Amino acid sequence: MSGILDGKRILITGVLMESSIAFHAAKVAQEQGAEVILTAFPRPTLTERIAKKLPKPAKVIELDVTNDEHLARLEGLVRDELGSLDGVVHSIGFAPQDALGGNFLNTPFESVATAMHVSAFSLKSLTMACLPLMQNGGSVVGLTFDAQFAWPQYDWMGPAKAALEATSRYLARDLGKQNVRCNLISAGPLGSMAAKSIPGFTDLAKVWDERSPLEWDMADPEPAGRGIVALLSDFFPKTTGEIVHVDGGVHIMGA
Ligand SMILES: NC(=O)c1ccc[n+]([C@@H]2O[C@H](COP(=O)([O-])OP(=O)(O)OC[C@H]3O[C@@H](n4cnc5c(N)ncnc54)[C@H](O)[C@@H]3O)[C@@H](O)[C@H]2O)c1
Repeated sequence: MSGILDGKRILITGVLMESSIAFHAAKVAQEQGAEVILTAFPRPTLTERIAKKLPKPAKVIELDVTNDEHLARLEGLVRDELGSLDGVVHSIGFAPQDALGGNFLNTPFESVATAMHVSAFSLKSLTMACLPLMQNGGSVVGLTFDAQFAWPQYDWMGPAKAALEATSRYLARDLGKQNVRCNLISAGPLGSMAAKSIPGFTDLAKVWDERSPLEWDMADPEPAGRGIVALLSDFFPKTTGEIVHVDGGVHIMGA
């Protein structure tokens, strides 16, 4: 059976648990014919354990996206394994506890800086680390939580996601000439580790029960994974700097 990622080589960050959006991106990507390589943070052993649940084996490389040495050695490690890349998935987000959960007005800049570094600037760092591997063009896909709105509890992750969204547009601008696209999936709430670390995030998710035109299941990250794979494929060849909502349609609702 042929798949929409047949013959493509894809690097996927952010596989931590089976609930990780990135796990589902990796699963669907393999099902659609891609060869997948994973990066791991904080420990490769965790990601290796989860990777065993994928349909096919996937090599795991350690990568803290704020560590310049890790970023510098990434190209060589991926080249040894796959030779080149056709796509990169950025599925990374983090903010310290004092930047979340209702502490917006009192968060120290140090914590804001960490959130920005890990969650937004890293899209640029990761893309540039992988760029030499995408000589024939490529597709970079990241994950946002709609930064047009001020959400309860989300606090400094909101500005971090706004920065991620802008970073994606600037990358799209600067890498178009190399036929490298950069797009984001704006996902609805999902019950991953990252979400559970935000106090009150499940209350926020109740909005989806009331407002989502399409039924939304917080326990099902596969729709987000499918969206990522669609953007990695050749079916969006002239789309870049875009944000595709995989949120059940909540973003269109006025009330
Ligand atoms: N869960 C949701 O409701 C939701 C909704 C919209 C967008 N998102 C976004 O989706 C992405 C993936 O999150 P998830 O929900 O799958 O949660 P997750 O906890 O499974 O994934 C977050 C990942 O970020 C990685 N990470 C954190 N710091 C890192 C660092 N310094 N270097 C490299 N990796 C690092 C973690 O290892 C983890 O794999 C994030 O960008 C998140 O903000 C999540």
